[in-house]
Amino acid sequence: MASPNGALADRRTVLLGVTGSIAAYKALDLAGRLRRRGINVVAAMTGAACRLVGPASFESITGNPVARELFPENKPQTIEHIALAELADAVAVVPATANFLAKAAHGLADDLLTAAVLATKSPKLAAPAMNVGMWENPVVQGNLKKLKAGGWQVVEPEEGFLACGTRGAGRLARVEIIEQAILDLLGRGRDLAGVPVLITAGRTEEPWDPVRFLSNRSSGRMGFALARAAREQGAEVTLIAGPADIAPPEVDSLIRVRTAGEMRRAVMRQLPGNRALIMAAAVADYRPRITQRSKIKRSGGRITLELAPNPDIVAEAAGKRKKGTVVVGFALETGDLRANALKKLRAKGLDLIVANDARALGSSSNRGWLFFAEGRSERVPETGKDAFAKLIINRLVGLLKRADG
Ligand code: CTP
Repeated sequence: MASPNGALADRRTVLLGVTGSIAAYKALDLAGRLRRRGINVVAAMTGAACRLVGPASFESITGNPVARELFPENKPQTIEHIALAELADAVAVVPATANFLAKAAHGLADDLLTAAVLATKSPKLAAPAMNVGMWENPVVQGNLKKLKAGGWQVVEPEEGFLACGTRGAGRLARVEIIEQAILDLLGRGRDLAGVPVLITAGRTEEPWDPVRFLSNRSSGRMGFALARAAREQGAEVTLIAGPADIAPPEVDSLIRVRTAGEMRRAVMRQLPGNRALIMAAAVADYRPRITQRSKIKRSGGRITLELAPNPDIVAEAAGKRKKGTVVVGFALETGDLRANALKKLRAKGLDLIVANDARALGSSSNRGWLFFAEGRSERVPETGKDAFAKLIINRLVGLLKRADG
């Protein structure tokens, strides 16, 4: 599905309706949070909302133009409310005024937002915010009942001080709660909903004294993109992250490790509770046999660092997994990609190996091959790591379905 800013075809879009309540400014925070999760947000504001918060703020936070008019003069060729209705994977009206609830409950469509809401088949949510007298009015409660019966999800307001100076129910629910409700709404129909997935990312560092270590150039980008992509599909992601150049994404459980030994222990402990392991971390194959307790002094002469092999984590995990657990590994090669990757796929007992060129290390794009245990292979042309990650997660969905028989 195309989006106004030309975002990736499979990115999810939330139509964020903003109506004229004082709480409208809180929708900016919500829009920012959703966007940070990789969700495409298109704001549709009513005239009253535009008087409370400048549309330009929403435009800069969402990266999309704000939808305001039913028949915009600059787009005579499009039917705006239908385009929005089709674009949205979910609609969230935050804050929703009593007036909006009344119109939505009765099918009125006298502005862009109410018309789009009436036209869309996507799941819908409203987070009301209003004065306590209005909130408690049986007419408003009746409208809410009607909306709920029609499939709307309602995030009830909280008790507290209201903008009008009184205390009572009617204050917009906390933004984190609304955010979660929207994520749940988007989750309907997601392929990995509730499936626990274990992902490793980043590099390991193998210290030889308190200030020096052996490592590699992995940035963590690929593993983090995988964690995001798995989460977008609804997976419950445990991310075991070694050192990386960027901050890890939000996941269900984050375990930070440094050395290959720590990563191995974490993987083996977490594996039994997960349906899949994606081993994207660049594990150091060797560690200094001895780690000195104090800094090695420069003597001027030659020193010899004796290295001991690290355990092959993914091979051990594949060997000890429960039936039905899918294991995906990576192969980083500087030559003979296909032959080396196939050798690793078999030697480590993996279901899928993602073979990429060593040039991908530290870069924002990737290309390579996917080799499946059953003999299939697939070439992946040069693509951004987010899109690459989505492709791998889609293939994981297929492997899990097959494992379920
Ligand atoms: N891997 C692992 N434990 C290690 C080394 C690698 O689990 N000690 C995993 C990586 O996370 C990756 C896969 O094994 O999923 C292949 O890693 P790669 O570095 O390409 O291969 P190696 O097995 O280390 O072989 P080589 O370095 O000889 O190419």
